Amino acid sequence: MKIPLLVDTDPGIDDALALVLALRSPQCSVESITTVAGNVSVERCTLNMFRILDVLKPERLPVVSRGADKPLARSLVSAPHVHGDDGLGNLAELKAADGSLRYPRPRLTLSPLDGPDLILDTIGRFPGELVLVALGPLTNLALALQRDARRMALLRRLVIMGGAVGVPGNVTPVAEFNFYVDPEAAAQVLASGLPIELVPLDITRNAILPRSVLQKRLAVCPDPVSRFVADMTQRGFEFAEEIGEGGITLHDPVALGIALDPSLTHFEPVHVAVECEGVLTRGMSVADLRMIAAGRKAPATCRVARGLRADTFLDLFLDRLCPASW
Ligand code: BDR
Ligand code: CA
Repeated sequence: MKIPLLVDTDPGIDDALALVLALRSPQCSVESITTVAGNVSVERCTLNMFRILDVLKPERLPVVSRGADKPLARSLVSAPHVHGDDGLGNLAELKAADGSLRYPRPRLTLSPLDGPDLILDTIGRFPGELVLVALGPLTNLALALQRDARRMALLRRLVIMGGAVGVPGNVTPVAEFNFYVDPEAAAQVLASGLPIELVPLDITRNAILPRSVLQKRLAVCPDPVSRFVADMTQRGFEFAEEIGEGGITLHDPVALGIALDPSLTHFEPVHVAVECEGVLTRGMSVADLRMIAAGRKAPATCRVARGLRADTFLDLFLDRLCPASW
């Protein structure tokens, strides 16, 4: 049986790459997608989600819901400098040779349910089976927990891209973006007792996609998806150059890849909590990595992904973008 997936996301360039991976992987079926404010506003994230579906044209369209438009207790901090003003590397502005828009505005066919209710509804369709992959701030998940924690406990796995456990953050010296944007939501989800697999910056930073590698692979299959990926990633590569990295960091695709194939990593049960009070430490993931007897520590709140088989992951990712045997 295919793995039923729900993807909670704030597309975002690397979110879009993760969705390409999910929608082109035969071992899973993307049942539902919930958007959330993060990289850009939730309106833009939702529009982007339909742009991605327009290009990918999956055989079965997932149910899509617009989720939370702001964090639980704070105003939104977004990242247009990373992902472009439109969240997808400004491809909304690109023109074809005849002057028409290369990516016309898609039609939005939205679920009548809001994001948290679609999460609960989809769990109800697949009790004990659904794998939820969270690629943005955890606002929708926290709201779903507040509405029905017992239903949420029927998730099979909850794979979260977020946190910086033993490495510096990417927004502040100590905080990763998704946890920084909505620390209260991240704290509530981590304290929930759900079967969380945390995929932090510690390992996503090892998945770097160099421009030359992507270009070489996309040249093998010059289809509309390849063109979309090439257009969208321009801004991502520019940003990588600005910050001195050798390519786009595939944060969200790594989390999606681990949802599909947990053997890409290994897990360590760890007590991780999220700082909501600190002036300098907002959104910090505080992991109890002390070398003391396990019985003297607070119980683990999640299993943290430690180490990534980066080459195997990159092969999987590139193969889904464009099979080498095209
Ligand atoms: C996370 O932040 C976002 O900008 C990315 O999409 C990813 O989910 C990495 O810190
Ligand atoms: Ca994201």
